[in-house]
Amino acid sequence: MIVDSVLTNAKAYLNNEIVDCSIAIENGRLFKIGKEAQMPNADEKTNLGNMLVLPGLIDVHVHLRDEGKAYEEDFYTGTAAAATGGITTVLDMPNNAPVTMSTETLKNRMRIAENRNLVNIGFYSEFPRDLGEVGSIVAQGAVGFKLFMARQVGGLNIDDDEALQEAFRKVGKLGVPIAVHAEDKALLMANEERLKHANRHDADAFLKAHSERVELKAVERLLALSAQIDVRLHFCHMTTQKGLNAVVEAKKSGRTVTCEVTPHHLLLSNADYEHYGLMLTIMPPLRGESNIEALWKGIADGWVDVLGSDHAPHALSEKSAGSVWDVKVGVPGLETTLPLMLTMIRKNRISLGQLVHLLSEKPAELFNLKDRGGLEQGKKADLIIVDFKRKFKINALKFHSKAKFSPFDGWEVQGCPVKTFVNGQLVMDEQEIVAKAGSCEIIRGGHT
Ligand code: DOR
Ligand code: ZN
Ligand code: ZN
Repeated sequence: MIVDSVLTNAKAYLNNEIVDCSIAIENGRLFKIGKEAQMPNADEKTNLGNMLVLPGLIDVHVHLRDEGKAYEEDFYTGTAAAATGGITTVLDMPNNAPVTMSTETLKNRMRIAENRNLVNIGFYSEFPRDLGEVGSIVAQGAVGFKLFMARQVGGLNIDDDEALQEAFRKVGKLGVPIAVHAEDKALLMANEERLKHANRHDADAFLKAHSERVELKAVERLLALSAQIDVRLHFCHMTTQKGLNAVVEAKKSGRTVTCEVTPHHLLLSNADYEHYGLMLTIMPPLRGESNIEALWKGIADGWVDVLGSDHAPHALSEKSAGSVWDVKVGVPGLETTLPLMLTMIRKNRISLGQLVHLLSEKPAELFNLKDRGGLEQGKKADLIIVDFKRKFKINALKFHSKAKFSPFDGWEVQGCPVKTFVNGQLVMDEQEIVAKAGSCEIIRGGHT
């Protein structure tokens, strides 16, 4: 038999260890992993020169924008950024224009993405106005629902406890997770009003409004409301020790909750506002050292389930204003997450095994992506080649993302994705996109 391609001289991360091997790819899947002599003939052979091979990363928290916000990012630029960052599957958040919150908006988004994607994309939906539509949204392929608690984005009244419980019951039955942005609207609004009234428009006012209590209150409320309901809540971008502890306690009591942290909440602190200014405005905000240490400890102790980039691209002009309240929140992250975390391996903050677990294995498990999340025969050939030794300086001007800014701009990192294969196809080679748009898969979560 002649397979599509064989990669030789790989150092692949297989079953928790690095193994010298060759990899045969056929029809978009991993056909065989073994010694070079055992490899079938191939149309194409690539010698990897002992480079590290990892399963493609799965970023469960990405704002790809497009449609009405295409000036900030579109499916092509966003997925080009993902491929360049070693990410082979992204899950797209629903706060778009229009908001993804119905079968129709989801279907339309899938249709547009199909011709413009360079990596696999799965889609979240916000809650529809009529909860009766939840089933058809999942049937259409939503990988999960997003619940934004800082203000109402979808059709669900987030002030209404019973409505939230009804939504949890409905989604629980369908088996997909609900990803939560846990900041309490009422407390946040009250804080904001007070600060605006006091004529505060600086970065510190934003931090005060988005207090630790704002996160904890939302986490506690949702954990209480879902206590008797069989539903999977996934808490996005945890930033505080107390918030994380509440999630950990729920886990200890056997609840099926999971959580995420982002590289920026791990690597930057509220002290950095002085240097970076309002560009660092993000929700939830950066915290101080003790909270950051708690997040690292959460990773070390295995309580943190996934790392997500929370890639939130904006036009540069939207990232500054006379008042912090007028600045768009968020920073891009697709092209920095892997190099930053590889650098943290060097600094003994995290192991390679933890990195693969948090950015590939566990995301696949949480979102039921059975064909992905590991280098195993039969799975989709989503894999990345990493030059673990290469040092480089992050240069935001070179991003494939339309958002050509980053708080990590100029940072020295060590570890660089040099090739990205998605479904067996080489998409990125030496930071260049080498595949045609529209060649990757739209993940239809509800069907697996
Ligand atoms: O920083 C953020 N950016 N937080 C959010 O909750 C939304 C996101 C965005 O869409 O820009
Ligand atoms: Zn969020
Ligand atoms: Zn987000």
